[in-house]
Amino acid sequence: MENREMNGIGYKVGQWPLDPAKPTVVFIHGSGLWSGMWENQMDALLDRANTAALDLPGHGRSKGPGMERIEDYTRVVAEFIQGISAPAPIPAGLSLGGAIALQLLLDFPDNFSAGILMSTGARLKVMPEILETVANDFAGYLAMFGQFGVSEKSDPGILRPLVEKLETVGPEIVLGDFKACNRFDVMNRLGSIRARVLATAALDDKLTPPKYGEFLANHIPNANLFHIPDAGHLAPIEKPETVNDAINKFLGS
Ligand code: COA
Repeated sequence: MENREMNGIGYKVGQWPLDPAKPTVVFIHGSGLWSGMWENQMDALLDRANTAALDLPGHGRSKGPGMERIEDYTRVVAEFIQGISAPAPIPAGLSLGGAIALQLLLDFPDNFSAGILMSTGARLKVMPEILETVANDFAGYLAMFGQFGVSEKSDPGILRPLVEKLETVGPEIVLGDFKACNRFDVMNRLGSIRARVLATAALDDKLTPPKYGEFLANHIPNANLFHIPDAGHLAPIEKPETVNDAINKFLGS
């Protein structure tokens, strides 16, 4: 794995240069997070695909400011994918990142023949308590993130590196991300998606419950649903082997 930078956007790649004979899975992180959340995926998928994970503006090593609309983040990610000349790019996002991946499939249908939507939904209304806590009690939000982010069966300690990074990102950027989620609603547009889609839904996910993934799979014409047992919202961190198996099968089919 290698850390790189392009036009103020920090990103990781499994290997560089990218192999033109393989597709490129482009990972997009969730609200307030960064590319480090994909460390368990970056090297593990290299037999089948190039892997890249960017930090959205204002997150991780990328320059700010953050944004408040999925469409604005989507433009940045589209430029990033073009900028690294990713062969056969497959957007793969979680939560906020999944909304961005969905928007990429809707806005650039000729550029993407497949997409991976993890712990996300076609509408991402945010509980008012989350918005209020981020704005007024950021320490309280960090505690809440540890509580709601993973399954009760997972060790909350696995989130420590993410929580430490969240502290440095700060409330303004996190609030912008949640406002972007709160506005997002493409429920009526899923039927127009032509790309092949893998939707993953973690059975213990309290933030984007399995019914959101089921809705995606039922309304996107060429979609498969994969349930992840014993995992919560952050399934790629909690159950990396299960998630990587699902992605590998999708890439191989
Ligand atoms: N896919 C499928 N169904 C969805 C959906 C999605 N993406 N988003 C909402 N729905 C469903 C809801 O489950 C609900 O169904 P119900 O009437 O059978 O209970 C219905 O559509 C309406 O939901 P919603 O538009 O979200 O409004 P609400 O006022 O009923 O609920 C919240 C608001 C915030 C309480 C609710 O959206 C929620 O619990 N969200 C998850 C928690 C959260 O904040 N997640 C953060 C996401 S980044």
